[in-house]
Amino acid sequence: MPTIRSIRDRGPDDPPLTMLTAYDAPTAGIVDAAGVDMILVGDSVGNTALGYDSTLPVTVDELASHTGAVARAVEDAVVIADMPFLSYGADEAEGIRNCGRMLKEEGAAAVKLESGPHTVELTRRLVELGIPVQAHLGLTPQRVNQLGLGRQATDDEQAAELLRLAEAHEEAGAFSLVLEHIPANVAARVTEALDIPTIGIGAGPDCDGQVLVIDDVIGLSEDPAPFSKAFGDVRGEMERAVAGFRDAVRDGEYPGPEHSHVEDDLDLD
Ligand code: KIV
Repeated sequence: MPTIRSIRDRGPDDPPLTMLTAYDAPTAGIVDAAGVDMILVGDSVGNTALGYDSTLPVTVDELASHTGAVARAVEDAVVIADMPFLSYGADEAEGIRNCGRMLKEEGAAAVKLESGPHTVELTRRLVELGIPVQAHLGLTPQRVNQLGLGRQATDDEQAAELLRLAEAHEEAGAFSLVLEHIPANVAARVTEALDIPTIGIGAGPDCDGQVLVIDDVIGLSEDPAPFSKAFGDVRGEMERAVAGFRDAVRDGEYPGPEHSHVEDDLDLD
């Protein structure tokens, strides 16, 4: 059974770590039963489930509700709440309260912060208080208005800054680091430099683990991330099931006698 400590202390010969997002109880149950190490209640819930066109509108209440649903369904995996835009970083006390709520009220084991120079000291403080932190560098979608959603750390200066921030977050006590949409050789260099595990998403094969958005993995996304891979066709299966229901009702095939019951003793005249 994975724990924050077993993840942080993963050895070089251990199998790569696995992490998937989940936003609801049935999906989290399936991911957990498959033995995935970490379940991230991503703020990608904004795009995948809540109909927003970015992660920026996601609220603390929304993320808390989804975190609770996931945590209630999970027995083994480490559940990580992905803190929404501006729920941390503006005011230290408010950030700590928002992060603490995910553990205290919703059953998460850790929080993830989209990281930068502004999250080093906050990470240190959260860890001091007993709130494990997963850092996140490279493409950080909460900065979509500044950085877009393209590849990051593609020149020497940006790669050096990313390495510096990765080391600063490790030193501040983060137990792992997500690296998103950066060159594989930059991710390999960061992975080599850190003792804590790196979890890549669009960051090549040399990270200590991999994470993807569940909708991309099961083939539900309409617009999957370019670096993702679909391992199933859930969208196709849903489309077939919904069309099957529609046709069966229109054709008078559903409900059949096996889906209905009659009370013979009723006097309905
Ligand atoms: O919100 C999310 O799903 C994420 C992953 C892509 C790492 O942050």
